[in-house]
Amino acid sequence: MFKQLLLWVGGAFVLLQAIQIEIPEPPKHIDPAKEIKASEKIMTMLQTSCYDCHSYETKMPWYGHVSPMSLEVKSHIKQGREAVNFQEWGNYDDAKKQKVYKGIVNTINFRMPMPMYLMLHEKAKLTKEQRDTIKQWAQSHMKEEEY
Ligand code: HEC
Repeated sequence: MFKQLLLWVGGAFVLLQAIQIEIPEPPKHIDPAKEIKASEKIMTMLQTSCYDCHSYETKMPWYGHVSPMSLEVKSHIKQGREAVNFQEWGNYDDAKKQKVYKGIVNTINFRMPMPMYLMLHEKAKLTKEQRDTIKQWAQSHMKEEEY
């Protein structure tokens, strides 16, 4: 009885692997000049805490290839890159940049990096001080009337 149940669960899991979403391949040539420019301190924080979802430099964890977790992981990467890809910064117009700076100010305390991601990525955790530093950096780029 138990064995049969295991077989069913195992079978369902194997079938589930057929369901995968694909994220677009990063371009072959990524122009380093297009990457956002900030102090080394800010860049390091963005790279360790945001780049998995907001750049082409995604370090895919093993479960990022195993359905159903991969569906969640890949959709975050896809949507994350759509929201802002720090390696495409040079292609953004002023309005988009302002939107992102504002978005950072609004999300850095709670929503970003995503809490579920942080549970699995100890290194990406930001201290209160680091969050404040990122916030101040984003605010310093915001136009007055945007406040
Ligand atoms: C695990 C993936 C992941 C990580 C890590 C991550 N983000 Fe996001 N981010 C997303 C997704 C998905 C969205 C789009 C959906 C949403 O807004 O919740 C998003 C949206 C955003 C937005 C737009 C939000 C808005 O409402 O305007 C900003 C700004 C942002 N992220 C900044 C950051 C910053 C800064 C970091 C690092 C400190 C970071 N994110 C880390 C996945 C991630």
